[in-house]
Amino acid sequence: MKTDPAFPNLFVVDHPLVQHKLTIMREKETSTSKFRVLLKEIALFLGYEVTRTLEATTREIETPVATMQAPTLAEPRLVMVGVLRAGLGMVDGLRELIPTAYEGHVGLYRDPKTHEPVEYLVKLPAAEERVFVLVDPMLATGNSASHAADVLNTHGVPDSRIRFMALVAAPEGVRRFHQDHPDVPIYVAALDEKLNEKAYIVPGLGDAGDRLFGTT
Ligand code: URA
Repeated sequence: MKTDPAFPNLFVVDHPLVQHKLTIMREKETSTSKFRVLLKEIALFLGYEVTRTLEATTREIETPVATMQAPTLAEPRLVMVGVLRAGLGMVDGLRELIPTAYEGHVGLYRDPKTHEPVEYLVKLPAAEERVFVLVDPMLATGNSASHAADVLNTHGVPDSRIRFMALVAAPEGVRRFHQDHPDVPIYVAALDEKLNEKAYIVPGLGDAGDRLFGTT
């Protein structure tokens, strides 16, 4: 995993397989069905890193040879929260990795003029002492990401129990998010160059929701 002193708490998963798959996703000719499969596969790789710091405990089991205290994930269960709608494509991968995780959704859309997030749905499991993984493929302006983390804070989840997982980030988005939530680690497959005047990530991959669902 790559880190950058300019962006503390940003982790770029620079595994060659992740980078290979991301390159195919970026190509404009890549079909929706391929895009969907690749997004899910990359989410599995990122999820492996995001969950590295989860607490483990032990339980007694019997192997065919002996009794042992074996490691197992500690309770309570993790929660993955997809930011609708593109987040759903990455949640598919996380769900495969941790089938026992609970799942929440935050529905936001970006006002096309102001680029500010507008909230239309919040459904979350009880906060308890759970770790919440926020999932949104494109960390562009950081407005939606920051708003989604605010929603979790209001729900009773402190920043210390939030992780953010994205596919591609822009430096502007990472800066903005970490201004508001400096203690939330961000895991991405790539940190791109910049945002354009329409707040799209450059070089990016276009509109992740449209490419995932085949809309225009
Ligand atoms: N959202 C997207 O889907 N793509 C971008 O480049 C920026 C925001």
